[in-house]
Amino acid sequence: MLNLPKEELLFFVRNHYDIILAAVLSIGVTFFLSKLLRRGSDRTDGIPGRLGLPVVGETFSFLAANNSTKGCYDFVKLRRLWYGKWFKTRLFGKLHVYVPTVEGAKTILTNDFRLFNKGYVKSMADAVGKKSLLCAPQESHKRIRRLLSDPFSMGSLSNFVQKFDNMLSERLKKLEEDGKRFVLLEFNMKIAFDAMCDMLMSITDDSLLKQLEKDCTAVSDAMLSLPVMIPGTRYYKGIKARNRLMQTFGGMIACRRSGKESPEDFLQSMLQRDSYPDNEKLDDWEIMDNLLTLIIAGQTTTAAAMMWSVKFLDENRAVQDRLREEQLSIARNKPDGALLTLQDLNRMAFGSKVVKETLRMSNVLLWFPRVALDDCTIEGYEIKKGWHVNIDATCIHNDPALYKDPLQFNPSRFDEMPKPYSYIPFGSGPRTCLGNNMAKVTMLVFLHRLTGGYKWTVDDLDPSLERKAHIPRLRSGCPITLTALKYGKNTETS
Ligand code: HEM
Repeated sequence: MLNLPKEELLFFVRNHYDIILAAVLSIGVTFFLSKLLRRGSDRTDGIPGRLGLPVVGETFSFLAANNSTKGCYDFVKLRRLWYGKWFKTRLFGKLHVYVPTVEGAKTILTNDFRLFNKGYVKSMADAVGKKSLLCAPQESHKRIRRLLSDPFSMGSLSNFVQKFDNMLSERLKKLEEDGKRFVLLEFNMKIAFDAMCDMLMSITDDSLLKQLEKDCTAVSDAMLSLPVMIPGTRYYKGIKARNRLMQTFGGMIACRRSGKESPEDFLQSMLQRDSYPDNEKLDDWEIMDNLLTLIIAGQTTTAAAMMWSVKFLDENRAVQDRLREEQLSIARNKPDGALLTLQDLNRMAFGSKVVKETLRMSNVLLWFPRVALDDCTIEGYEIKKGWHVNIDATCIHNDPALYKDPLQFNPSRFDEMPKPYSYIPFGSGPRTCLGNNMAKVTMLVFLHRLTGGYKWTVDDLDPSLERKAHIPRLRSGCPITLTALKYGKNTETS
């Protein structure tokens, strides 16, 4: 346009003056509004960051990051480069502050339920149920959690360890004999689901497991969707799947009460309390909502963590060799074909550090969201009632002031105890992960059977992340091929 002769330029301006005027005006208004918003928000709290336009804020940038193969944490990383460690943003109409420090995590997690709470999301309560630990109000949360906890204590998990070990050993052996490559993430998702259903309700029938898994995935997808009951939507499918699951769980409870079946499992331990006073037992909806919650909270997280352990060990052969040495020495001291016990897991000193380092680096839950219930101050920053504060566990786990060379996979860093609130893969406080012991023993058994029985090759080294996933997972799902160790213990199953 710059090379246009004067007459043509005049002609263009005369014929398009309305468009030009609108463009100039909208650029001016946007510039003015963004300056105003930035000045106004900075003045109130001192937290840097851009809130953008009302309601929309930076939602589109967030969605774009979430939809890319860098993952949604890229949105956080970029803003940290622009604004520093503390920053605020506006997402889906709400103001969010990312809290990047140990002190901040401590303030929020020690005041959970009092000054902060999980944000209430209607779709979440509709999907997992109002009596789920994820949605229940403080008083019932405390009681439900107390009554659910026992089967997840370390001492109660010995049965689970043996069952999981048996299931895993058989499946790995079959995969190795078939000699084909397989997608590790898919394998992990299936085995984590099957093991959980066996532990909770003694379900082993494969076609029932497949149907339940499909329905649980639909419920999980509906948890953060728009709560409108229109056929075809994620919400609609999730609610329908929830109804089917509740019917199945209800049928199982009735069957147990009739005395037809009474296997030793989590569900039975809950029903054994039927004759107890009200505050010492769970009602049927509390049991059913939390069966669903435990499956959803436990499957994807544990499956992703096991996948990352393989990826990190593959990239760090010296660590893999040391781990294999430890696991083989444990295997050699056991009779042929014997399954692992809790005592064996206690001997896995290096294995435990590999698990810890995997959880530090993979950051399965990137941040823990809360809403401020009142105005408060965190490390000198003013937080207003109703703001969302995200405890940024990823930032804490990658802080070079807390972890030397934080991007280096180095399990030996856990020779020393981490400082309080500097290592929080399972959160902390009244909402600490209920399944943390279960997750740890699952990972240890997995590492034992894999490194003690096999070598593997990762058949796709692409580091891209899965799109639209709220838990970081490799887009490839980490396909691997197994080879049995010559002197390994891969033939052991009961
Ligand atoms: C590697 C695997 C796992 C990781 C990294 C993990 C992480 C977490 C974290 C960080 C929280 C707290 C979130 C917050 O404060 O907002 C949490 C809560 C929870 N987790 Fe896990 N989890 C894992 C496995 C499991 C398993 C296997 C189960 C069940 C058997 C489970 C059940 C739960 C439940 C029920 C809660 C909610 C607790 C409450 O609100 O009281 N998790 N998990």
